[in-house]
Amino acid sequence: MSTHIVAQTGAIAEAVLLPGDPLRAKFIAETFLEQAVQYNAVRNMFGYTGLYKGKKVSVQGTGMGIPSISIYANELFRDYQVKRAIRIGTAGALQENIRLRDLVIATAASTDSGANKVRFGGRDFAPAASFPLLKTAFDAAVAKGYQPKVGTVISSDMFYAEDPEEWKLWAKFGCLAVEMETAELYTLAAKYRREALALLTISDSLVSHETTSAEERQTAFTRMMEVALETAIS
Ligand code: HPA
Repeated sequence: MSTHIVAQTGAIAEAVLLPGDPLRAKFIAETFLEQAVQYNAVRNMFGYTGLYKGKKVSVQGTGMGIPSISIYANELFRDYQVKRAIRIGTAGALQENIRLRDLVIATAASTDSGANKVRFGGRDFAPAASFPLLKTAFDAAVAKGYQPKVGTVISSDMFYAEDPEEWKLWAKFGCLAVEMETAELYTLAAKYRREALALLTISDSLVSHETTSAEERQTAFTRMMEVALETAIS
């Protein structure tokens, strides 16, 4: 048991999928896992453990933004000895060649968040993906016929930025997409010596101002879940 996750020791698998939306956690458990058991409902941040192709996998909602994922990732790594954490989320495209519904695999995450400024006393840390997870996810995606885009993302604290042009700075430095959690997940995985990866589906584009419909998001998200589950059990 930990402050925000009420689960028995051993109730959470070594590999955990981390969607931001707890209802996505429920959907994954109901759609893909056998013998799924809900281990957490505190704050409706649902967590489930079940079997995927006979192997134990958990899926835990994290909420949106760095402070929220920080709470869940800290507790999963520290109190439940989670070894592999795979974020599955949506992101906004920052480059013209990153299209709606594309799968982006985040090699590393820049951030405008205050979290690492506080944690490292103003020094910079480079939050990076686990290479074994990244390679496995890339290969699994290609085997399924997808063409994942691999590169850096920006984890922003501001969904509604004061300066609507601010994203262009990150785009200029090659960031593929903007989301709100990966920098913290990668930082905590480094601290606890665990493996982490973020798989992101492009839900909107800051370049073209296009957005996906709810149905398109669901289809693209389902593809990403299959890649994440294959990676989790590898
Ligand atoms: N900004 C931040 N997070 C996001 C976005 C965005 O435009 N789209 C999906 N997640």
